[in-house]
Amino acid sequence: MTPEPEATPTPISLYERLGGEAVVQKLTERFYRLMDTEDYRALRAVHGPDLIRAQERLYWFLSGWLGGPSLYQEKVGNPMLRARHLPFKIGLLERNQWLLCMHQAMTELDVEESLKDQLIQSFFKTADWMRNT
Ligand code: HEM
Repeated sequence: MTPEPEATPTPISLYERLGGEAVVQKLTERFYRLMDTEDYRALRAVHGPDLIRAQERLYWFLSGWLGGPSLYQEKVGNPMLRARHLPFKIGLLERNQWLLCMHQAMTELDVEESLKDQLIQSFFKTADWMRNT
């Protein structure tokens, strides 16, 4: 009898490792709630009075970026993130606050350490590429 072929493990997406839709949604909520506090004043100042639009769009974007449903592409189109950030002054301070704010949001949601480190490294590349001043 021929032996059963060994099952090839399906790679788990970052989206699934994080906890799927519910956690990605919570993460973006927590991120913008934290941004609205004193610690992230410089980052907050780059944004308009209302953070709801940004929160919803970051959720759509992260969903696809983490390997889940491509919500941003479906609802808005090509992210072209750097171009979309050009109207805002993004320097080292704003980049660092963005990353710290995201790190704090992940810590508060008890994201596992190795996953958090991996995500912060990827966020760093994206955030650094957004600098325009
Ligand atoms: C480096 C520091 C960053 C600053 C200061 C910044 C700031 C902003 C601002 C001011 C907006 C506009 C919000 C609005 O329309 O009301 C925005 C939108 C957005 N940001 Fe950032 N951002 C940063 C990094 C990032 C990173 C790293 C990501 C993704 C991982 C990201 C994803 C987005 C998305 C998806 C939108 C919505 C774009 C749209 O459809 O108009 N941002 N950001």
